[in-house]
Amino acid sequence: MNPADAAQHYLRAGTLQLGAPPPLSLYVHLPWCLRKCPYCDFNSHEIASGELPQQRYIDAVVADLEQSLPLVWGRQVHSIFIGGGTPSLFSPEGIDRLLADIRARLKLAPDCEITLEANPGTFERDRFRAFRAAGVTRLSVGVQSFNDAHLKALGRVHDRAQAIAALEEAQLAFDTFNLDLMYALPGQTLAQLEEDLAQAMAIAPPHLSVYHLTIEPNTYFAKFPPRVPDDDLAYAMLDRITEVTSGQGMQRYEVSAYAKAGHRCWHNVNYWQFGDYLGIGAGAHGKLSFPHRVVRQVRLREPRLYMDGALAGSALAKSEEVPRADLPFEFMLNALRLREGFALSQFRERTGLPLTAIEAGLEEAERKGLIERSLTHVRPSERGFDFLTELQQLFLPD
Ligand SMILES: C[S@@+](CC[C@H](N)C(=O)[O-])C[C@H]1O[C@@H](n2cnc3c(N)ncnc32)[C@H](O)[C@@H]1O
Ligand code: SF4
Repeated sequence: MNPADAAQHYLRAGTLQLGAPPPLSLYVHLPWCLRKCPYCDFNSHEIASGELPQQRYIDAVVADLEQSLPLVWGRQVHSIFIGGGTPSLFSPEGIDRLLADIRARLKLAPDCEITLEANPGTFERDRFRAFRAAGVTRLSVGVQSFNDAHLKALGRVHDRAQAIAALEEAQLAFDTFNLDLMYALPGQTLAQLEEDLAQAMAIAPPHLSVYHLTIEPNTYFAKFPPRVPDDDLAYAMLDRITEVTSGQGMQRYEVSAYAKAGHRCWHNVNYWQFGDYLGIGAGAHGKLSFPHRVVRQVRLREPRLYMDGALAGSALAKSEEVPRADLPFEFMLNALRLREGFALSQFRERTGLPLTAIEAGLEEAERKGLIERSLTHVRPSERGFDFLTELQQLFLPD
């Protein structure tokens, strides 16, 4: 189906009654890295030196965007997230062209947040400033740890000193930035986690994302599992992370995200509030609302197939309606990640379903002490936040 026909198809009548379309974000995936980390299951591919097909890839992403326009006609974009992979491998000139080509095709909100993911191993002086000059407003720096032995075990291409230098530069070049850390690393002790945290706090990032290292299927670590801290130690680490960050004025506003006032990641909050996002680039996922349905899309995953597809007229691997029965769980999977939870009116507007679709789940969650609710809002309780998977599962389709 060509894109204009697809838009017509998705606009036809249906049984769901969604409200006004939610805010729209744009995700752009750049799929290359200097080296593949052994724990990583993102769509990222190691490049041999000099092999980055930057021009052709940007041509493909822009063609992909052109083909998607009928699905988002007339809508304003509130945030852009350029993720990977390692987007900072692209030159500032490349990012400048990409953003100019996006601006020429989409109406961006005046305060549009534009995040770029960066790896300290791709850091050179002045590079971050050039990304800023290209229009990037927020940098997300993947540090993972400040401990050289742990960085080595994680297969990272940078060391502690490079991480600190990159963060200092991010601080100078940007009004806001994020620092990514992981915990429960191979062989990590509580004292070592505290050292990582202390170093992170010494830099005073406005936003911190902290992820429990997960051993993902089909990664090197799944094949050769390292010894990682047990659950009790991992919980103790998480407690320390929450304590130390709140002592520095950072609020844990989402399961893995901590921010100072005014520095939440708007783009991610839009995902968690079941907002819309167009996903372009290899393997990118998207979610778009129409008056009577919600559609999910996935782009071709392998970068070369993606480029060939986009340049020949379609980069889609999949585009399908979310079944009515899956919508309550999909909404809750996201909304319950937020400390503040959600407004009941938002559930109705964004799923097109009546509140009766979640009433039984809410009653059970309340009985188990996993949520707190008023007439208009629902939020996870302290206990619900700690046992989030159990809480989310109450909304699985029968
Ligand atoms: C897609 S990566 C992009 C950042 C950049 N490529 C880098 O690694 O520096 C986003 C973040 O996901 C986290 N991450 C990746 N794989 C993970 C895993 N297996 N378990 C926990 N967190 C993971 C890391 O903190 C990483 O910074
Ligand atoms: S640098 Fe980031 S995206 Fe690339 S392989 Fe490592 S964790 Fe994955």
